[in-house]
Amino acid sequence: MRILVTGASGQLGSEVVRLLQQREAERRRDRLEVAAADHAKLDVSRRDAVMAAISSFEPDVVFHAAAWTAVDACEGDPDRALAVNGLGTRHVAEAARRAGSHVVYVSTDYVFDGRSSEPYTEWDTTNPLSAYGRSKRAGELEIDPVWTTVRTSWLMGRTGSNIAKTILRLGRERGEALPFVDDQTGSPTVACDLAEKLLELGLARRPGVFHVTNQGSTTWFGLARAVLSAAGLDPGRVEPIKTAELVPPRPARRPAFSVLDNAALRLGGDRLLPAWEESVERLVSALG
Ligand SMILES: NC(=O)c1ccc[n+]([C@@H]2O[C@H](COP(=O)([O-])OP(=O)(O)OC[C@H]3O[C@@H](n4cnc5c(N)ncnc54)[C@H](OP(=O)(O)O)[C@@H]3O)[C@@H](O)[C@H]2O)c1
Repeated sequence: MRILVTGASGQLGSEVVRLLQQREAERRRDRLEVAAADHAKLDVSRRDAVMAAISSFEPDVVFHAAAWTAVDACEGDPDRALAVNGLGTRHVAEAARRAGSHVVYVSTDYVFDGRSSEPYTEWDTTNPLSAYGRSKRAGELEIDPVWTTVRTSWLMGRTGSNIAKTILRLGRERGEALPFVDDQTGSPTVACDLAEKLLELGLARRPGVFHVTNQGSTTWFGLARAVLSAAGLDPGRVEPIKTAELVPPRPARRPAFSVLDNAALRLGGDRLLPAWEESVERLVSALG
């Protein structure tokens, strides 16, 4: 089986590649051949490059983890967001159709507007509030129904920069109070947990949209407290503030409530990811 991973050095892409290489080494299943295509090797916004990479490797499965994920920067350059996240996904889809590959697309809770007070299911209506959310929704529309779309939220892993690392750095560097917003609610999701489920769904070529997050929900304030506690730092230093009080204000609007009901997994009897508290604690000890 040949597998190509886009965005292979990102938070999620690197975990997917690590797991695939582990399987390759263990030869647990059929022999796997993995092509780890990071941004330098494959720019998904370049149609010719994507067509060439996929037609020459002829992957059975493409894990499409490449995206421009800087939510506030996307707001300032919506064309670039669309070129990478929307059109880039169109290129991957076009090449995959020609090569007969199955595509696994990774999307986001930011496709929802957050006006609900109930967790969003896979079948709920999308209405993104930001340029990033719109560009990721554009990518969703390029995905064939027989392929796999996985929406996740509040992703954090061992590589790259993310909120858990930022909280730890601030907690260690700064002595004073740490303000975090308590009026945005979502589900923190640890990249290695998500990567496991992505492989399970993708290698089985499970069709349709799946919400995949760690279970439970919190606010950024709650997450900051949990990260500090797990690192043996004082969670009492975290202070709740409102989004409107952020200085300077963030350019991109975020949904106030973006908890994803993992309904397709839950109702289908599939194993869910662990509770976010458990996984965040494991991540913090791995980050050291
Ligand atoms: N992070 C989150 O909180 C979150 C939440 C929900 C869903 N997601 C989705 O989950 C997926 C993985 O996100 P992540 O957190 O792993 O993001 P990430 O760490 O930013 O990784 C994305 C990777 O894509 C690469 N990339 C950017 N532009 C590209 C281009 N034009 N062509 C090829 N590669 C390009 C980036 O490379 P450079 O850094 O070198 O540009 C980076 O290595 C994305 O689809 C994202 O939208 C993320």
